[in-house]
Amino acid sequence: MSALLGDMEPAEAESVYFNEYPPPKALPKHEALARAFIDLHVADNRRVVLVTSGGTTVPLEAQTVRFIDNFSAGTRGATSAEYFLQEGYAVIFLHRQYSLLPYSRHYSHSTNCFLDFMDEAAPAADSPNAHGSIQVRSEYQDEMRDVLRKYRYAKQNNRLLLLPFTTVAEYMFELRSLAKLMRPLGPNALFYLAAAVSDFFIPRHRMAEHKIQSSEIPANLENNSALDSEEIYTGENETQPPKNSKKLVVNLDPVPKFLHRLVDGWAPEGSMVVSFKLETDPSLLVYKARTALQRYSHHLVIGNLLSTRKWEVVFITPDPPHERWLRVPKARRSKSISGMEDQVGLAEIMKGKGEEHPSQMEENPPPGGLDHDGIEIESLIIPELVKLHEKMIQKNTPGQQ
Ligand code: PMT
Repeated sequence: MSALLGDMEPAEAESVYFNEYPPPKALPKHEALARAFIDLHVADNRRVVLVTSGGTTVPLEAQTVRFIDNFSAGTRGATSAEYFLQEGYAVIFLHRQYSLLPYSRHYSHSTNCFLDFMDEAAPAADSPNAHGSIQVRSEYQDEMRDVLRKYRYAKQNNRLLLLPFTTVAEYMFELRSLAKLMRPLGPNALFYLAAAVSDFFIPRHRMAEHKIQSSEIPANLENNSALDSEEIYTGENETQPPKNSKKLVVNLDPVPKFLHRLVDGWAPEGSMVVSFKLETDPSLLVYKARTALQRYSHHLVIGNLLSTRKWEVVFITPDPPHERWLRVPKARRSKSISGMEDQVGLAEIMKGKGEEHPSQMEENPPPGGLDHDGIEIESLIIPELVKLHEKMIQKNTPGQQ
């Protein structure tokens, strides 16, 4: 493969990319699960959303010890999946293995450890030497009951299918297969691409098979007692760098943007495709989101900044109003360790309009006053998106206009 995949026509890039890799071992099993799940919901005429979530890895070695990764914990995807379920959708949750999952996310993060929600009850009075049962602490009962009920409902009614991936190649294989399997859903299918997909990778034919060595391997391994200790790389911070250690220069190719293929080939006729655009520079966000919408001709780009993604997003649509900001009102914003609240509104101001104050919602007091708990922005995103999907279904379903 000498030409860059990014320079090829989408269909050619697809065939070259997928021929480089063997399909993931789990793919046949995932396909069987997905087929049964989709059949069930086609029969019930239920809407099905494919939510992608979490980061993709880029292995540096075929027998992978090291890989490149990104920041995404899968919060957006896992949270959104819950609100889709609440709206009556069935959800295929294609997620990075070990990233956050719908419902369990409330108790699985290191800052939200499930053990902190538990207590050991006092032993029964008639058997003081027995152990007390493990219980949820009283202050968390209501919230945990609510989460548990929703989780059980989703499970018992087959509304949630969890499918994991790890590498960017696995993600691509899974996405392609699932999109094709979703064809019988027609306009009832929705794609919500919230995963943070790598833009760069090492093609399989250039990838080292084994762990990349950080120092020269002596020609005669059996005689390595003769090796000067200075030549041995220990991986620690040494005052003198080991003589034979090398710089590791990683040469990455662009991953083809498969959004083209998803929209034009894989996805069901009449289905809705929603992509996300992530930026860190506020002055670029709206421009880049608009450009993505024009380039891939799909239905919605949700733009977000890394620093404010928990409190604001922008909907960029082909139809008026073309640009719509959704913001969690100030008094209802949850705290975020990595977020920068003073940047909320900046991307709207800096996109070139020169507005002094960001529009809507910001000035509106939240329903019920200012003393409520924080709300999640996904509780604003999903109902708005469902309205757009409803319109598309009406447009694309014969006899429903
Ligand atoms: O998980 P969290 O911490 O909650 O963070 C959520 C999020 C910030 C990751 C999420 O809200 C988000 O923005 N996800 C998309 C991130 C991303 O991949 O952005 P991008 O600008 O690199 O790509 C834009 C679109 O192109 C994406 O929809 C992606 O699916 C698609 N893409 C990307 C790379 C690639 N090689 N092929 C693609 O098709």
